This record gives sequence, structure tokens and C-alpha cells, in this order.
Amino acid sequence: MERRWIRPTILMCPPDHYGIEYEINPWMNRGRPSDAEEARKQWHDLHALLISLGVDVRLMTAVKGLPDLVFTANAGLVWHHKVFLPRFRHEARQGETPHDDVWFRSAGFETIELPEGMYFEGAGDGLFCGDTLFAGYIIRSDARAEQWVASQMRCRVIPLQLVDEHYYHLDTCFCPLKPGEALWYPAAFDEYGRTVLKQLVPGLIAVEPEEAARFACNAVVVGHHVALNTGCPKLEAELRMRGYEPHSTELGEFIKAGGSAKCLTLRLDGEDAALWS
Ligand code: ARG
Repeated sequence: MERRWIRPTILMCPPDHYGIEYEINPWMNRGRPSDAEEARKQWHDLHALLISLGVDVRLMTAVKGLPDLVFTANAGLVWHHKVFLPRFRHEARQGETPHDDVWFRSAGFETIELPEGMYFEGAGDGLFCGDTLFAGYIIRSDARAEQWVASQMRCRVIPLQLVDEHYYHLDTCFCPLKPGEALWYPAAFDEYGRTVLKQLVPGLIAVEPEEAARFACNAVVVGHHVALNTGCPKLEAELRMRGYEPHSTELGEFIKAGGSAKCLTLRLDGEDAALWS
């Protein structure tokens, strides 16, 4: 049965138990904790911004001891009424998956577990642009897992090796805007990845290193609106030139964990750039 969404619908999880409790990427440093109150404010500002853009925001309950559950982009890869659940590479995040599973099932989705021995971190590493699934691998997800997921969806998958530990999920360095158009940070990919992206996505918008480090590519696209962290003026100007409306909102407390706008969200009705067949 096909699910019908009336409005763009996004899953978020409030930062009630968010914090820097371990270090699994180069942004995280237990010596640089997040400020709970400031994190709450920043999350609420993003939440309010998305609502103002017409998004129906659904919420998942935060769980003590799972500080990164706030990053719902990793809760799964949604495809129609099915969700491929994550299998996290780091033990610290593995406890999230049963909570993701419960949430999706209660929302009426069919959840699918990956075969044993494969790592896959959901929409953090799997992004549709047109009818193709672009998939980041090696730092977190496995290319083999992405091949398996794509075989279930019978879609073309392009595994892209991520070469910079700072850009450990594909959504930190690549952001589809619409079919054929995407933001990217070229230095996060190897030569093959750069070549194949240029071939398959004619409208690539490169972000500068300083703005990539402000998580410019970790943007939430809702129609022609693009929500992103502050500190990316060059990208904002470029987006305006191309007919998009950027909305910046401070997300520094989440960058301390290696996440920003996109990581804090999961589109449940299909990304604007995704052409599911
Ligand atoms: N601290 C989290 C991790 O390292 C951040 C996840 C960010 N999520 C994302 N989709 N990029 O796993």
C-alpha cells in the first residue's frame, strides 16, 4: 500500500539526552562538551524553522545513554513504506537501532534489517539524487551493505569512497537539491568519486573548505528552501543566484558531535531530489 503524505514530513528527536559522551569522529572531543541549554535552543530554532517552511515534524522520544539518537538521519533509509534500519559501526551507537525500529513500526512502516556483518548508517550515507542512490562508504557504512540495500530497491547505486575522516558520512559532503543538482565538497571524495559525480550530477555546486567545515553540505532541502548552519555566506549567495532560498540557523552545539541540520532530520516522505520508481 502506498503511503500518502500531505506535506513534507520529517522525523526529529529532541536533544533531551544529547551530549559528547564518546569520540567516534574527529569533531567529537569529550573535553569540549556541548551546552545543554544552548543545544536545546538551537534544536528548537531548527524545529521552528522547518515548521515555518510547511514541514510536518514528527518526533521520536530521546533515550538516556544514547546521546546521538538526536541525529535521526541515521535512523534508517526510507523508501516508500519501507525502512532499512541502520547497523552502526561503533558500539556506542548500536543501542539506537531497536528504538528506531519501534518508532518506524508504530508509524506504520515496514522495517528491514540488514544481513549480518554489514554496516550501514541510514540516510547519513545514502542519498537519492534522481533515481540513483549515492552511497558513502568505508568510514561508517560498507559498500557491500549499500549494494544489498539497492538490490532490494532495484535501483542503481553509486558507492562513493569517503577519504576524509571529518566527512565521515555522505550527508556531510553531498546534498542533492533536485534531480541533477547537488551541493558537494570535492576534497571529501577520491578521484573516481569526483569523476563519477561530475558525470552523473550535471549541476554540482562545490562548497569551499571553510564552509564545508561549517557543514554547508549538511542542509535540509524543502522545495526551494534550504535550511543550513550559519557561517556559509558564499553558499547562501550561490543558492540565491540559482533560485533557492537559504535559511541559516546556528547549530554549533551539534557540530561538536559532527552533525548539523541534515543530520538532525530524516525525511519520511522522500527527499525532494529523490525520484523513486
Ligand atoms: N556523533 C554522530 C556520529 O559520529 C554524529 C552523526 C551525524 N549524522 C549524520 N547523518 N552525519 O555518528
